[in-house]
Formats: sequence, C-alpha cells, structure tokens
Amino acid sequence: MEFKVLTLPGDGIGIEVTREAVRVLNHVAAKFKHKVHLTEGLLGGVAIHKTGTPLPPETEAAALEADATLMGAVGLPEFDNAPPEKRPERGLLGIRKALGVFANLRPVRAYAALIDSSPLKNHLVEGTDMIIVRELTGGMYYGTPRGISGSGPEERAINTMVYTRAEIERVTRMAMELARNRRKKVTSVDKSNVLENSQLWRKVVVEVAKDYPDIELDHLLVDNCAMQLVLAPKRFDVLVTENLFGDILSDEGAVLAGSIGMLPSASIGAKKDNGYWVGLYEPVHGSAPDIAGQNKANPLGAIGSVAAMLEYSFGLKEEAAAVNKAMEDVLNSGRVTGDLKPKGTPATTQQVGQAVCEAI
Ligand code: IPM
Ligand code: MN
Repeated sequence: MEFKVLTLPGDGIGIEVTREAVRVLNHVAAKFKHKVHLTEGLLGGVAIHKTGTPLPPETEAAALEADATLMGAVGLPEFDNAPPEKRPERGLLGIRKALGVFANLRPVRAYAALIDSSPLKNHLVEGTDMIIVRELTGGMYYGTPRGISGSGPEERAINTMVYTRAEIERVTRMAMELARNRRKKVTSVDKSNVLENSQLWRKVVVEVAKDYPDIELDHLLVDNCAMQLVLAPKRFDVLVTENLFGDILSDEGAVLAGSIGMLPSASIGAKKDNGYWVGLYEPVHGSAPDIAGQNKANPLGAIGSVAAMLEYSFGLKEEAAAVNKAMEDVLNSGRVTGDLKPKGTPATTQQVGQAVCEAI
C-alpha cells in the first residue's frame, strides 16, 4: 500500500516523541513493504511564533490532503495568559473541526509490566481493558454563544454546551460498533440529573442502542463515573461520553495504566472515497514544557498512535499488532523512560523508539 501522512510535531515534547513515532512508522512500513510519503506542518505555539496563527491555512490544507495526520502535542507556557483564540490549543481544536474527526478513541489497558506504576492496588487495576470514546467536535469546546463581556462585578463569561441529535447518534454508533468486536458492553456517561443537554444525550443513546440488541448498555452520571474508574476500572468495556467529560475522564483513565505518557489516541471521522478513514492520531499527554528537549519523554503514547493509525485509517491490522507487540516487548524488557519503572538507568526517548523498531 501507499499512503500520505502529515506530521504535526507541535510544541514541547511533541517534537521528540513524534520523531520516534515516525521512526517506528518508517520501520514498520519498510518491513511490510508499504510506501509512506511524509510531510511536516506547523501547529500550535510553534505555528504562532512562525506565522502568527496556531493553525496556518497551509497546515489545514495539508491535513485535508493527507491520508492521515500524526500529531505530537500543543501548548507553550508563554501563551498561558493569551485569549483562547490566540492560544496553541486553538490550533488543535481547529484541525479537529476541519477534519471532522468526531470520535476520539482512547484505549486504556493495564499492561502487566506496568502494574506497579499504577496508583491503584494491583488487584484493582489488573485486567483493565477499556476504550473511552470521547465526542470530539461538539459540546462546550465549540458551542456558541461564548466569550467574556462587561466589566467590574458584572463582568461575565459564557460557554455553551450544545449537541444535536445527529452528533450524538453518530458517536454512539461508533461506540456500539467498537463494542461488537470487544466484550459487547457500552457505558454512556452524562449528567442528566442536572443538564438538559445530557437528557438529550441519554435519550438518543437509548434510541440508537435499539439497533444493537447484542450490546449491553448502561448509564453512569459523570461524577459517579469518575469514582467508578478508580474503584472498579474492570467494569468498563466501551465508555462513550461528550467532549468535556471525555477530556477529564480520559486523563483519569490514562493514569490507571501507569503513566499518561503511555496513552495513544485516534480521532476518526468519515470514510473517504479512497477507502481510507479520515484520522488524526495523537498521544493523550500534553506538551510537558518542563521536560521538553531533554530526551526523556515517554514516546510510547505517540508510537501507540502510529499503531492506531495503521489499524483505523488503513485497515492494516497485522502491522498495527506488530507495533503493539513490540511496545509490549519493550515494556517487559524494562528499557523504558523514567515515568515508568525502568530497570537500571532510564532509557532516553530515542532509545525507546529504537528499541521498538528492533522488536518489530
Ligand atoms: C486533549 C487535550 C486538548 C483537549 C487540549 C490541549 C486542547 O487536553 O486532547 O485531551 O482539551 O482536547
Ligand atoms: Mn485532555
């Protein structure tokens, strides 16, 4: 096969983890005789510095043109006090919207080698295997009206949580389809005891579920869900929720697996005419400016995102499995970065990338 991949390393550790992810992508492609055409673009803080905007039009055009996009991370401390539209994060939100990647898949798995890195007791976390499906192009992140107005005691800020039936339906279908290839259980998470928005969410999820009688559906309120994730993570198979709840719960889920540096994500949109699925792939972690440029960030979240790309965008299951297996071998070998429990001196970002290539 032949495919075009756009890389957007972004800011902070995004640059170094993407470099290793690309190393693995090139390696696995060569091994399985695929041809990858790589291009690189600007997104986030680096794009603001170089062009004045977090999502330059060339980047948007390149992402629409590519078969898949691999992103690092965005965010730089010098923009902490900038208004939302001038922040690096706005670039990421813009590209998600431009690509229409409405379903963000964040798998949380307890790897045997990492069990002692989890903040939970071994018996609680052992066997955890869930996938969080976060709605990604709606809700509070994009809803209008939004903004800050007025002054003095009357200064006010507003954001809007809005969903249409169609938006809820398509992400619910994605969750149901995923569950069919897993343990056939979907948990929908909302705040329907308080929010009208969540009442519609729950109503539509229940209706869609009628088309999937083989799938067991249950509902949790988001506050209870936050608690159940640490009390009984094994109860979850597929968890589906709206954008902001999913943002928060997936960080909580990430740390169950031992380190947020481990978690990959896949954001999926529509199927394209050429048969590939529109996809944006990124580790769940942020740009971690405090450790950027030191060659010590964990690249496994980014490398796992390459596996997700191979599987979801290109349907290359064997290649994806080879990357995942190699990652597990590296974890078992203890040649890992300092955020995990390395055997001896922590490996560098680059060494972990090289070790994954060798294990493929
Ligand atoms: C994530 C991040 C982003 C989000 C930020 C960087 C805009 O936290 O992908 O989870 O909130 O979606
Ligand atoms: Mn987040």
